[in-house]
Amino acid sequence: MTPADLVIRDAEAADLPAVRALLVETWHATYDGIYGWQRVAEITNAWHSLENLKAQLGRGEGVFLVALVGEEIVATASARQERDGAALLTRLYVLPNRQGVGIGRTLLQVALACFPEAPVARLEVESQNEPAITFYERMGFFLQRQARFDGRDDTPNTLLMAKRLFVA
Ligand SMILES: CC(C)(COP(=O)(O)OP(=O)(O)OC[C@H]1O[C@@H](n2cnc3c(N)ncnc32)[C@H](O)[C@@H]1OP(=O)(O)O)[C@@H](O)C(=O)NCCC(=O)NCCS
Repeated sequence: MTPADLVIRDAEAADLPAVRALLVETWHATYDGIYGWQRVAEITNAWHSLENLKAQLGRGEGVFLVALVGEEIVATASARQERDGAALLTRLYVLPNRQGVGIGRTLLQVALACFPEAPVARLEVESQNEPAITFYERMGFFLQRQARFDGRDDTPNTLLMAKRLFVA
């Protein structure tokens, strides 16, 4: 059951060290078995540097949310609106020891609710990340197509998933 004291809000500058630590830990837990520890360390150090995360704060480019249980940041999500109006989920990570209790579902719902006019939601997921694919299917997403694969070992092989949203 989702923790009763779960709080979801916009990320703030003071959150960023904890968000970075969450992303590094969760990336290793999720992707080491696919890409190997070294490659994951390289990617997460580059993508999740404090500088990069800081540039994503605020609502200019989209939403950058954190979920807290008490004082602890247990999950983060980011999303933005695409040119065609679709809501694009760009990040959704729940700490490994907090997974499976409804936090991902709630955070995904809140992130998509930030785009009430969006007719559709989209995301990319690593094709070997089967737990996440199963989760997104439970959330109503369908596999749409292979997003990109150029045959190189170091290029993520991602799948595009989409979900039609209710627009009043
Ligand atoms: C994928 C992830 C975001 C899901 O969040 P979560 O908090 O663990 O999932 P929830 O507890 O909200 O689960 C919601 C539903 O999905 C199902 N689900 C979640 N994880 C699942 C898994 N590993 N295998 C099968 N079903 C799963 C749950 O059973 C639940 O279904 P229900 O309708 O029967 O209740 C989270 O596990 C995570 O951060 N994983 C590692 C990072 C990752 O892969 N992120 C996605 C990158 S694209």
